[in-house]
Amino acid sequence: MFCVKDFEAAAREKLDPVHADFIAGGARDEITVRANEEAFARLRLLPRVLRGRAVPGLDVTLLGGHARLPVLLSPTAFHKLVDPEGELATARAAAAAGAVMIASMASTVAVGEIADAARAAAGPGETVPLWFQLYLQPDPEITEALVRRATDAGCTALVVTVDSPVLGASERNRRNGFHDLPAGLRCENLVDLRDGEFGHVRQIAMSPEFSWEHITWLRSVTELPILLKGVLHPEDARLAVRHGVSGLLLSNHGGRQLDTVPATLEALPAIVAAVAGRIPVLLDGGVRRGTDAVKALALGARAVGIGRPVMWALAADGEKGVRRLLELLREEIEDALALCGAAGLDELTPDLVRPAWSGP
Ligand code: FNR
Repeated sequence: MFCVKDFEAAAREKLDPVHADFIAGGARDEITVRANEEAFARLRLLPRVLRGRAVPGLDVTLLGGHARLPVLLSPTAFHKLVDPEGELATARAAAAAGAVMIASMASTVAVGEIADAARAAAGPGETVPLWFQLYLQPDPEITEALVRRATDAGCTALVVTVDSPVLGASERNRRNGFHDLPAGLRCENLVDLRDGEFGHVRQIAMSPEFSWEHITWLRSVTELPILLKGVLHPEDARLAVRHGVSGLLLSNHGGRQLDTVPATLEALPAIVAAVAGRIPVLLDGGVRRGTDAVKALALGARAVGIGRPVMWALAADGEKGVRRLLELLREEIEDALALCGAAGLDELTPDLVRPAWSGP
C-alpha cells in the first residue's frame, strides 16, 4: 500500500460489493463526490525555494487538545461492516499516530469502549483527543443521554452534524437494497437509550425542525466545546460564531447529502473570511493526498478530515491498514511541506496555491 488509492482498490477486492458501494457512494448523481477531489486537483502549489529550514513536526492544537497530525478521522458509521474489530481497530491506529478520531454516533462499538482502546494505544503520557459526532434528536432526553455517554467516555468535543435534516438519497444503496446493518451488528451508542431499543439504525431520527435555538440549548446542557459539521454558507458560519460554537468542520458529508453543493475546498475561502479567525475551521471531503491537506491548510483550514480512506484502509488490513494510511499521509504532508519550502504548518499561506493555468 503506497497511497490512498491502493487502499481503495484493496478494499473493493475484499468487500461485499454492496458494502463497497455504501462507502464509495454519494447522493443522487454524485456530482459533489467527484467535485471534492477535482477541486484539489485543479489547484496548483507554488513552492518557495532556498529558505534554509527543516520541517519540524506536524503537531497541531485543536480546541485546546494536542494532536501530532493535522489529519482527523472524520466520523464514519459502521466500522464493523468492514472489519471484525471495527472502531476499536480504528481508534488504536488513530491514537498511535496521534490523530484525532471523531467517533460516529452510529458506531458499531460503544463510545466508552472506543475511548478505552484509544487510551491504551496512545504514546506514553500522551492523551490523543477523541471527539463524538452527534445528530440532534427530536427528543431532548435522548440527545442528553448521548452527550452523557460521550462525556463519561472522556470525549473532549461534540461534533454536531447539521447537514442532515433528512437522509441523503444514495441511489447505489437503493438499487443494492442496502438499508440496514447485517444481523449481529448494531449501533452500540443507541442501545438502551429507551426501553426496548436495541441499537437499530432507524432509531437515529433526522428532522428539518432543528434551529439555532437547539444549539443554544445544547450549549446549556454540556460544557464540551461544540463544532458544527456541514456548514457551507458563509452566513451560517457567522451565525455559528454568534451562537458560541467553538469550531466548524466544513463538510458536504463527502457528497452524501445534498448533491451539487460546492466542493468543500471551493467553499473554504468564504467560510474562512466569514469567521475571521474567531474559531478554527476544519475541512473534510476528497482529501486523498498530503498535497490536498497542504492546499486546504494554506487556504486557512486548521486541519483536514478523511472519511472514506479510513474505511478503505480498515477494510483492506484492519488496524494495521489504518496505521499505514496515517503514516503515508504523514510522509506525504512532510514531503509536500519541504518541497514548498515551508518550515511548518503555520507557514502554509494562501500565496502557495494558485488555480490551474487557464490560458493567457
Ligand atoms: C460518512 N460521513 C458521516 N458523517 C457524519 O457526520 N456521521 C456519520 O455517521 C457519517 N457516516 C459516514 C459513513 C461513510 C461510509 C462515509 C463515507 C461518510 C461523512 C464523513 O464524516 C465525511 O464528512 C466524509 O466522508 C468526508 O469525505 P471523504 O473523505 O469521504 O471524501
